[in-house]
Amino acid sequence: MTADERIAQLRDEINFHLYRYHVLDAPVISDAEYDALYRELLDLEAAYPDLVVPDSPTQRAGAEPLDAFEKVTHPAPILSLANAFNVDDLRAWRTRIGRLLPDPEMRLDYTVEPKLDGLSIVLTYRDGRFTQGATRGNGEVGEDVTQNLRTIRSLPQRIPVDPDSQLIPPPYLVVRGEVFFPLDKFEAFNQSRMEAGAAAYMNPRNAASGSLRQLDSAITAARPLTLYIYDFIAWEGGSVPDKQWERLELLKAYGFPVSPESQYCPDLDCVAQAYDAFIEKRNQLNYEIDGMVVKINDKPLADGLGFVGKDPRGAIAMKFPAQEKTTKLLDVQVSVGRTGILAPAAVLEPVEIGGVIVRNATLHNYDEIARKDIRIGDTVIVKRAGDVIPYIIGPVVDVRDGSEQVVERPSHCPACGEPAVQIEGEVAIYCDNPACPEQLVRRVEYFVSRGAMDIDNFGSQTGSLLIEQGLIRDVADIYTLNRDDLLALEGFKDKKVDNLLAGIEASKQQSAERVLTALGIRFVGNVVAGLLLDALGSIDAIAAASQEELEVIEGIGPGTAVNVITWFANEKNRRVLEKLRAAGLQFAIEKAEMDAASQTLEGLTFVITGTLPTMSRDEAKALIEAHGGKVTGSVSKNTDYLLAGEKAGSKLAKAEALGISILDEAALMNLVLN
Ligand code: IVH
Repeated sequence: MTADERIAQLRDEINFHLYRYHVLDAPVISDAEYDALYRELLDLEAAYPDLVVPDSPTQRAGAEPLDAFEKVTHPAPILSLANAFNVDDLRAWRTRIGRLLPDPEMRLDYTVEPKLDGLSIVLTYRDGRFTQGATRGNGEVGEDVTQNLRTIRSLPQRIPVDPDSQLIPPPYLVVRGEVFFPLDKFEAFNQSRMEAGAAAYMNPRNAASGSLRQLDSAITAARPLTLYIYDFIAWEGGSVPDKQWERLELLKAYGFPVSPESQYCPDLDCVAQAYDAFIEKRNQLNYEIDGMVVKINDKPLADGLGFVGKDPRGAIAMKFPAQEKTTKLLDVQVSVGRTGILAPAAVLEPVEIGGVIVRNATLHNYDEIARKDIRIGDTVIVKRAGDVIPYIIGPVVDVRDGSEQVVERPSHCPACGEPAVQIEGEVAIYCDNPACPEQLVRRVEYFVSRGAMDIDNFGSQTGSLLIEQGLIRDVADIYTLNRDDLLALEGFKDKKVDNLLAGIEASKQQSAERVLTALGIRFVGNVVAGLLLDALGSIDAIAAASQEELEVIEGIGPGTAVNVITWFANEKNRRVLEKLRAAGLQFAIEKAEMDAASQTLEGLTFVITGTLPTMSRDEAKALIEAHGGKVTGSVSKNTDYLLAGEKAGSKLAKAEALGISILDEAALMNLVLN
């Protein structure tokens, strides 16, 4: 096979697996097998750069940044829809269109589709290849965002996606859909934006539109955008079915992502039922919907009904009750994040929104509070979407009585009292004190959380209490908690202590990926942790890597690389790391590698005496053993080192007499780290 042929084959295969993974959520090969195909293609394209084409899967990482978006004239107007707000409005719509039909009572059937609250896009395919993608713009002219759309994994670069499919799409085909930001990724994404000093997006819709309208498509590539397609806009040289339901089926068969919530309805009662069902499930979906779209299934008939303004008569949007309410902003509290960000948090007069009592809302940052002129005591409009933390749309200025108070930016950390700092060019305000107790509470909370070490029975109150009692001074202290200390705490009975200790013990088996995530290095969430470990094999190798070595890893940018380097360069962090190693946590993808990486004290015998500055003697012992050393109880001529702290007594004297090397904690660290 020639390089040319193999490249073509690899592209088809990779596109197919992207589809299985991102559209069907049913991969048929492992991640490692996928990676191997992808790497083979990358290597071949590097060897034959002339064979690189824009729709190659390797180009999904983004292309050269643009100066501006080109304008695109749509082949047909990109319409919007009239609204209905309840079932009465729906029936009134049916009656209105009845008057335009030869028989007002004629049987009509429908499709119902979720009305995604994202960004409308228009995709062009020529001979089955994706050639252009545009935003809706004003409905006639939109912006060319082809490069950005290419980065979306669920968007088919070629149709049909399935190589075994017999379907031949029209040589010229334009479809329409909606790009959106999955709700389950939204908060973590905003969090990392804030940590990077950027302003948070107000809601998932803004995040989708902001992510798609980037001149540098590499930025879009790093965002978890996805899309659903729901309509044909234009085609030439072929045909599409007359029925909307069959059109959705055909879109699916081509390999487009189509909402699985779409449904066929033989009559209006079914539509009414679907409406209630959608309202019920809207908060369980992984995207925001603000209504349901009802379309007459017979498209030629629907099109024949014409328009009212820009709204076609043959379809209608049934809006849901807004998940928005007004309530009073009682206070704005300052919360301290694990990286020291001082974030404003709204305390609200409790209000029921869509079946849930809302007491708190995010305010993102102080710039936004100032921009929206939100004041304490204001009546504010609060919006809720899915399980995402609700946010404040803005104040109702008209009902102010003059008692409202401007929100002050914090000048000091509320937890430790150190002055707050703002980094030039960044939005966030920080507490810069690494010893801030509240930051430690957050770090511990993050360390034990579900996405990190996932320690059962370790709630955030437990963390706060242990820190308050001085039992935890860094996250590694979690592994030296002992039964007696815990039993001495108020409310800690046998059972509770056993459960807690069992949870901690079990977490030692968590993967190196989770350990790396749990360290809480800025920008290193579990995805990046996975990339780093896949490339380098162990936390030690990552700690030892240079900026350049990190940056060549796919998916690792310079910002992440700097943060990784800075974190591992910090003496305090390295101590924590060694304590975690000593506790027996997984540091490498394979255990064998970890052992190999840490046997620096092999063959050496230690004795420990006195009080060490930051470690207990048990911790020091575990540390030494983890690195292959041995610890004995008494000094003899076989002792290699005496590890001595404050108030060392007779053992020190004996070691001196025997001429044995004496180490303090810092010197031991040096031995271990070098
Ligand atoms: S059909 C004539 N179907 O809702 C066809 N629209 O006002 C008009 N939307 O801007 C659109 N999901 O961005 C249609 N399944 C769906 C939709 C949908 C979301 C958006 C679309 C449009 C707005 C309608």
